[in-house]
Amino acid sequence: RMNMTDHAHGGVSASGAHGHGGGRTVSVADLTGPRSETPDRKFTLVAEAQKLRLASGKEVDAWLFNGQSPGPELRVKKGELIEVTVHNKVPDTSVSVHWHGVDVPNAEDGVAGVTQDAIQPGGTHVYRFRPDEVGTHWYHSHQQSSIQVKKGLFGPLIIEPEQSDLAPGTQDLIVSAHTWYEDKLPLEPPALFGTIDQLERRKMAPGTPVRLRLINTDGATHRYSLTGTPFKVVAIDGNPVNEPTEVAGKQLVIGGGGRYDVEFAMPAQPVRLTELRRYGKELRVVEGGLLFSADGTGDVPPDKPQETFDPTTYGSPLPTEFGRDSKFTKTHSLVFDNELWFYDGKFTVVWASNGMAFPKAPSLTVREGDLVKVRFANRSHFDHPMHLHGHHVLVLSRNGKPATGSPLWLDTVNVEVGEIWEVAFKADNPGLWMDHCHNLDHAAAGMMSHVIYE
Ligand code: C2O
Ligand code: CU
Repeated sequence: RMNMTDHAHGGVSASGAHGHGGGRTVSVADLTGPRSETPDRKFTLVAEAQKLRLASGKEVDAWLFNGQSPGPELRVKKGELIEVTVHNKVPDTSVSVHWHGVDVPNAEDGVAGVTQDAIQPGGTHVYRFRPDEVGTHWYHSHQQSSIQVKKGLFGPLIIEPEQSDLAPGTQDLIVSAHTWYEDKLPLEPPALFGTIDQLERRKMAPGTPVRLRLINTDGATHRYSLTGTPFKVVAIDGNPVNEPTEVAGKQLVIGGGGRYDVEFAMPAQPVRLTELRRYGKELRVVEGGLLFSADGTGDVPPDKPQETFDPTTYGSPLPTEFGRDSKFTKTHSLVFDNELWFYDGKFTVVWASNGMAFPKAPSLTVREGDLVKVRFANRSHFDHPMHLHGHHVLVLSRNGKPATGSPLWLDTVNVEVGEIWEVAFKADNPGLWMDHCHNLDHAAAGMMSHVIYE
């Protein structure tokens, strides 16, 4: 019988991680961040059930961190020791917090039932880690995430480099795409800036450098167009792009969990960030979005560029520790399909990997030091943003074409319908890690497995 939920029960059962040196067995609980040093920054997140009023006037039953959505922005510098205390005040529901995009030590990873016990109602958990990965990331509950993230338990996590990568005077804005649900039906259109489902206007003085940190906190793919100015994609999944060039007339496609940072210099005329929706072959403009102009008025008709931005050919190459021609010590291949299974007296859609669903979906066992090549092939009818915890993967190829741009290090690989991606990672972070689709409904319906260090 399949367990179709996330790891809903507590109990850290994982002890599969072995340290090196004499075959000493290390349990997940030992793989913590620095516990005794004094933290550089402390944050408190309080999860609570609250009513949230959307800009449309509708109220939703939300679960929020510190009463807001997105939750408070956690902004730190690379290498700082961070301490986050999480209090759970949601009645009858346990939570956890995962740091999406940061390769933390295993016990800090926030996967309830795998790397820690879920935080019970009234309970508290303290996370400590030193992030190394600069850029735009996010945090979210990893307890029944397909429900809890939708209800609002997420927020941005920005890791700044030691020297700021922003030009002086930059307007640094977080745009998180999130769909709110009412009785399981999505309230359209999805909100930019968390709660806005109408066109939001912002005054922006011409000449101002603007950074938009686009975070897809939804499950489904989001498509954007930026009209009125050329722009640069300066980071993908937080990782800076080497020598980004100007982009215009292309849509940005961001899979669930993924992030794109774009920059432009505010021109004299208005600029509009618009979300696009695909209906079969047709591309439609979603109402709402963001409009920047000198005085907050005016408009610019949104583009509907058919051409999509390809991150695998963007920017200039740099040497990397390994690449397409490296000798891999492990290979792993996953073919995705949607299937209709009959059990419990009814047909249910299952998202399968190699014909199997969680908990039987194929896991990968590695040794510390392994160089692992993974191939994803998507034969299903939906995009699958594949997220490996605790590691970043380097993209080797997409649909048979080698990645030739700036080294593309991702934590979430959006394998679109019909696509084949090859990626690689170094097994350098011992523990028991989740590897799942970040369309969290798909994860809950089978697309979830583990990377296990032996
Ligand atoms: Cu962003 Cu396993 O999740
Ligand atoms: Cu999926």
